[in-house]
Amino acid sequence: MKNHTSGGIPRHIAVIMDGNGRWAAARALPRTAGHGMGVRTVKQIVEACAERGVEALTLFAFSSENWQRPREEVSMLMNRFLEALDEEIESLHRNGLRLRFIGNLSQLATALRERMEAAMRLTANNQGMALVIAVAYGGRWDIANATRELARRCAAGEIQSEAIDEAAVGAGLALAGLPDPDLLIRTGGEQRISNFLLWNLAYTELYFSDTLWPDFGARELDAAIEHFSRRQRRFGLTPGQVGAR
Ligand code: IPE
Ligand code: IPE
Ligand code: MG
Repeated sequence: MKNHTSGGIPRHIAVIMDGNGRWAAARALPRTAGHGMGVRTVKQIVEACAERGVEALTLFAFSSENWQRPREEVSMLMNRFLEALDEEIESLHRNGLRLRFIGNLSQLATALRERMEAAMRLTANNQGMALVIAVAYGGRWDIANATRELARRCAAGEIQSEAIDEAAVGAGLALAGLPDPDLLIRTGGEQRISNFLLWNLAYTELYFSDTLWPDFGARELDAAIEHFSRRQRRFGLTPGQVGAR
């Protein structure tokens, strides 16, 4: 029930990084150029969040629906992920970040999946910010996945159906072990969730920015955090009840 923050800084920030394609189109560049610039923004925002003491940052990099984009765009994106991972893993590790990739990783090429798994193993015991990258991720996939595992355990006699409560579902989701996001930022002007963390966003504060992701930076991150720090999170209570806490 408590406001999951310290000094107004959200413990967990989730970001829908949108607008790369439009950024490129506005400059008569191919969409892929926008994705290249988007990777630069990722580095800046990861660094800025770690500096500000954010405990977890979850970035939506590729949705389950994004598989339907033109084949060349998908393969360029996958190559960019691989390159960025190779370029950044050492410095992320040195800085104590803990990496987690969430999504239907079995759909990825073996080389990419193996690099992701190696990066998760390498950084698993780090104590710094958790950096969660959602790739081939869909909120509905996540819930279906957790449900299937609970059904399997029921059928195997390991648990009773009565034991399936919100905590049991949550424990089977991709973000298990992390607090729910306090703040969701979506860049690029659209005001929708696009099948991101459906379960975990139940009480997240939403911040929509018209800035395209390649143009997003630390200053605007601070504006989002500032906006967040002024909101009263009531979790269903009355303002008076919250004030009395
Ligand atoms: C977000 O930018 C990145 C991914 C979805 C991979 P977009 O590629 O969706 O950019 P717009 O929305 O077309 O501008
Ligand atoms: C959401 O952006 C997914 C990611 C940022 C990875 P999209 O551009 O795919 O979402 P829609 O199509 O606008 O809903
Ligand atoms: Mg988009």
